[in-house]
Amino acid sequence: MIKSWFPTLVYSEPLSLSGLDKFNAGLASECRALRDFDTAGRKWSQRNYPGGYTSYASMNELHRFSSTFALLEKRITRHVLRFARALDMDLRGRKVGMTDFWVNIMPASAAHSLHLHPLSFVSGTYYVVTPTGCPGIKFEDPRLDRFMAAPPRIAGAKAANRTHVTYPAKAGNLILFESWLRHEVAQNRIDAERISVSFNFNWS
Ligand code: NI
Repeated sequence: MIKSWFPTLVYSEPLSLSGLDKFNAGLASECRALRDFDTAGRKWSQRNYPGGYTSYASMNELHRFSSTFALLEKRITRHVLRFARALDMDLRGRKVGMTDFWVNIMPASAAHSLHLHPLSFVSGTYYVVTPTGCPGIKFEDPRLDRFMAAPPRIAGAKAANRTHVTYPAKAGNLILFESWLRHEVAQNRIDAERISVSFNFNWS
């Protein structure tokens, strides 16, 4: 008998918010306005997020300053708690809260290289504007550095046995993962902006 152990869970669900299209349109304008306003963030992005804009290093607690982001925080928290339950995390008597919440705008040619999210336990992304053909989020098998002499996988390998998986970016959709799981976003090869908002959660 062969059984599967130590799975890596990735959560993907629609946000479920009434009037979602209108909400996303407002959120997109807010993200673009933030880019116009956030000189420090644009400067940081030039060095660290070539071609794109992120408020990660400048305005990363947007849920504390914007009612739009505060509403999103509330909604997302429910999903995070559901994800934590699926992971059998014991959070009884604990507080789970969003620590960071920031904007990512990727115009043509922008990319986001492989990274993880330190100082948090669950992270994720909510998609705001996802023009057809824009890149998804690609996760890497966390055991990749231990594979040593393991042969490559066959072309038709079962999804769970592959070393990478890509979730397409879809406006209105939410992706959650444990913060240690490395991921990246390939270069945006279309001539239209992809907008997402990302966040970290911690517990205490
Ligand atoms: Ni990330």
